[in-house]
Amino acid sequence: METLDLISDAQTTEERFLRQIFVRDQMHEWSKNPLIMSRAEGVHYWDVHGKKYLDALSGIYVASVGHGNKRVIEAIKKQLDILCFSPPMHGTNPLAVQLANMLAEVAPDDLSTVKFECAGSEVTEAAIKLARQYHRLKGSPGKYKIISRYQSWHGSTLGALSASGLKSRKTVNEPMAPGFLHVFPPTCYRCPFGKSYPSCDITCATLVGDVIAMEDPATVAAIMVEPIGHTGGVIDPPEEYLKLLRKICDENNVLLIFDEIITGAGRTGQMFAAQTFGVTPDVLCTAKGLSGGYAPLSAMICKGSIADAFWGPVETNPGFVEGHTFEGNPISCAAGIAVLREILERDLLANTRTQGARLRQGFERLMAKYDVIGDLRGKGLFQAMEFVADRATKSRLPANPGFGVEVGRRALANGLLCRFDPHWIAFGPPLVSTAEQIDEMVAILERSIDEVLHK
Ligand SMILES: Cc1ncc(COP(=O)(O)O)c(C=O)c1O
Repeated sequence: METLDLISDAQTTEERFLRQIFVRDQMHEWSKNPLIMSRAEGVHYWDVHGKKYLDALSGIYVASVGHGNKRVIEAIKKQLDILCFSPPMHGTNPLAVQLANMLAEVAPDDLSTVKFECAGSEVTEAAIKLARQYHRLKGSPGKYKIISRYQSWHGSTLGALSASGLKSRKTVNEPMAPGFLHVFPPTCYRCPFGKSYPSCDITCATLVGDVIAMEDPATVAAIMVEPIGHTGGVIDPPEEYLKLLRKICDENNVLLIFDEIITGAGRTGQMFAAQTFGVTPDVLCTAKGLSGGYAPLSAMICKGSIADAFWGPVETNPGFVEGHTFEGNPISCAAGIAVLREILERDLLANTRTQGARLRQGFERLMAKYDVIGDLRGKGLFQAMEFVADRATKSRLPANPGFGVEVGRRALANGLLCRFDPHWIAFGPPLVSTAEQIDEMVAILERSIDEVLHK
């Protein structure tokens, strides 16, 4: 137990030591077999017992350019000697300016004005505030409602949580903030309207227009969606869906916000899923893979035409009223610049497309072998499989703990880190993953499924 031994005193039992920290998992269950990572390199982690894990999840869709990336580490080391913190109330720093310009270059169309924060929750919440303040500045202060989707996750701060649609993470924290509405997501595999694609006419999108009409467009500020929803089982929309949302937003003077906290920074095989789907939002939020996990960093990128509204004279315009102490931190921005350079110069977008196709082939092979796999979804290196009791009826397997959880736990025991839920598992490997590593990830998953089926 290398790390624990270093920081616990001789009197402290492991159990007592573990009571000093809240973890994201159910704590009682977690403490029976606590996972404590000690170091990482490339696409591997090692825990404090020295056990090695293949990282098919980039930590949690974060380690985009792999662990221990020398270029990012060198960039951070260099910056540590120059400037670690600049005064956020008074200005910014050259690294933040440089990264903002790089993001404006790689983002589609007119997405050109950046607000940096540290976390995904901070930027999705900033986007909500931006939408409301934008309409206020444009003479429509009554436009404040935010429409988002059930089963979505936009973050754990109260505004981002209010926009989220995941009851398992919301109910205990209710009541939520007012002004948030939810619509059904494009879960084609289990259409909430009992329809089938394409004869459905994309009801899940057109209904959003109806909701705006019923609410009164004069009260709606923005629609916020993940281009590919994560929670809910990697909800990959039909190709018309985001285009229709774009049209509905344009018709109703409603801003379209993409939460690309996961899908940004190359994960779907283009820099942003906006490019993968060919739809440009008004505001794009990105985080996780943007710094590759080397420092906390997130960015909200909005259209220049929207940013223009914040440039009026001081008497009538306070600027964008939003900010956090660590925004645009020079160390984080140094990491972000180095990560973007890695993605662009090593053409990791092409690698993501190639390895994503290989991962899909691997999943397809498993689907041909195991009837328990009902559906495959996702794009690039963001792919999931849903488990079912019966493919024909799509009936679910018992939920407690759920086949997906059992497979995920077996995978961990077998040295593979992936995202698991009662009914699905997902992979989000580093964009630097090789063909051999993808094959190994699929092979360990195969063994884990086998073990659960034959236990
Ligand atoms: C799609 C999405 N949006 C927002 C967030 C919130 O990001 P953070 O945990 O960095 O606050 C997450 C985190 O998992 C996410 O997956």
